[in-house]
Parts: sequence; structure tokens; C-alpha cells
Amino acid sequence: MSTFYAMPGNAAFARQLARAGGQACGAVQVHPFPDGETMVRIEPVPATPAAIVVCTLDHPDAKVVPLLMAAATLRELGATRVGLVAPYLAYMRQDQRFEPGQAVSARIFARLLSGAFDWLVTVDPHLHRIHRMSEVYTLEARVVHAAPRIAAWIAANVEQPLIVGPDGESAQWVGDVARRLDAPFVVSTKERYGDRDVRIRLPGIAQWKAHTPVLVDDIVSSGRTMVENLKALTVQMARKPVCIGVHGIFAQDALDRLHAAGAERIVTCNTIPGSHAQIDVAADVAAAAYALCGDAAPQAVQPEDTKA
Ligand code: R5P
Repeated sequence: MSTFYAMPGNAAFARQLARAGGQACGAVQVHPFPDGETMVRIEPVPATPAAIVVCTLDHPDAKVVPLLMAAATLRELGATRVGLVAPYLAYMRQDQRFEPGQAVSARIFARLLSGAFDWLVTVDPHLHRIHRMSEVYTLEARVVHAAPRIAAWIAANVEQPLIVGPDGESAQWVGDVARRLDAPFVVSTKERYGDRDVRIRLPGIAQWKAHTPVLVDDIVSSGRTMVENLKALTVQMARKPVCIGVHGIFAQDALDRLHAAGAERIVTCNTIPGSHAQIDVAADVAAAAYALCGDAAPQAVQPEDTKA
């Protein structure tokens, strides 16, 4: 038996996971003190040996200290195996020292989480120069792939899709999604000159002019990668593009920019809650989490509002 514990903002997703296997669901309460420190409280105190903390890790810096305290407190209170479900896993993009003196955050973050948890389930982490989680994580990690759910969403919602990868790194999931749909796909090339300065080159797409372009990327953060692709696509294609991200961070004015650049529709997986999170991956995450904690295979996961 296990108990799921939702960090703030993760209650709906945690409940979906707990219900899938008939397990209990509690919460990690985080109280901010006036001095900027926080008090973490586990509710209820664990009555099962296995505890699973659910915490998506967008905007990670404010979440990490309470998360590490929660893991340690669960152990002090009797949990013997503590897992982490982080549908979005932060810091995977800073995977090398691009300039002298920079931190390789992916490795440091992996060490922090590996020291606190026994296992981790996440959805499509940004594996680029790091090819496998085990290259940086020493805990047991399981990766859930969103491609089947994304392909099913496109099949149900988009007529005659042309799948477009907005940069070389997206080729891995774009190819997977396109093959599942038996749809054509192309991949742009991208050069990034700064956080919000991106240039792309779209390959020839004239033969698919009548298709609906569907951009698929893992992360939509500043939105600039999608925006530059949208600009190129709207000039060349007859139909307005659809944007799909596995993880919708939508930093600052990203959504406004995406709409202004011509996005017909913007949809993400529910790895980060929000109104665009319409592709439900909870069943796949539940299957992976239950396999790692040794509990019975989950039932079908009931979708619910993930804004909690
Ligand atoms: C990077 O390589 C990722 O796959 C995404 O393309 C990138 O993180 C998107 O970032 P932004 O929305 O800031 O352009």
C-alpha cells in the first residue's frame, strides 16, 4: 500500500493517480513564514511504508526546498520508500557548460533529487545531450512518453495533419507522433541567440499546402521557438497551425505571442495544470508509478479538472 502526497498545486493530478489504484491521497502543506522560510507539514502522517510525492517542477526554485523537506519528513515519520512523480522535470535543458563558469544544472538537480527520493516518474524529460536518465540520476527513473496520447488527440481533432517539429531536438517525438498517425512530418532547424532570440529555417512544405500544420514540441517556455515557426507556416500554408506542447510553461506573454503569430489552437498535456492542458497522461503516469511502488496495476484513470 502507498499514499500519494500532493505538493501545492498538484492535488487534482495526485487524486487521479491515487484513485487509479485505490490508494490514499494526502497533501504536503507549505506555510510561508514572514521571513521567507517555509514550514512543511505532512497530512496525514504516513500509515503506509511507501509514500509518493506528486510535484510538477515548472518554476522549480521555489518548489525545491519544500519538496526536499517533504521527502525527508516522510522518512522521519516512517515511510521506508519515497517516490517522486514529477510530470514535468526541470533543469534538463542546461545539460552542458555552454560558457565557461556555468553550472551544469541538469547534473546538480539530478544529484539533489536522487539524494532525496528512491524513484522518479516523469513525462518526456528533455533528453538531448543527456540520452538516458541514468546518465545523471542515480535513483530508479521511469519515463512516460506522451506521443501516443498526442497522436490520439490529433487523430480526434485535426483534419489532414502535417506534423512539424520546431527544431532538431523535437525530431524524436515528432517522428513518433507522425508514424502513429501515418501522417507526413518535417523538422525545422533552429539557432538560439538568447532566451528570447530564436531563428528557424522551415524545410520545403509546398507539397502539403492543403494540410493542417501541427507543431509538436516538448516544452513551450518563452514560446519563441513556436512563434518563429508559426510565422513561417502561416505564410506558406492554407490552414492555420495548431500548437501542441508536452509541457506548457508559457512564461510571461508567451500565450499572447502564440495567438498573435497565428496559432489556431494551443494544447498541452496535463503535466503542468492550466486551461490548455487537455491531453490527459495521468493513466500512463499512474501505470509507471504503481509499477515502481509495487502496488496493484491501476484502474482506468478518471479525468478531472487539473487546475487544483
Ligand atoms: C528546446 O530545445 C526545447 O525542445 C524547446 O524547443 C524549447 O525549450 C522551447 O523554448 P521557448 O519556448 O523558450 O522557445
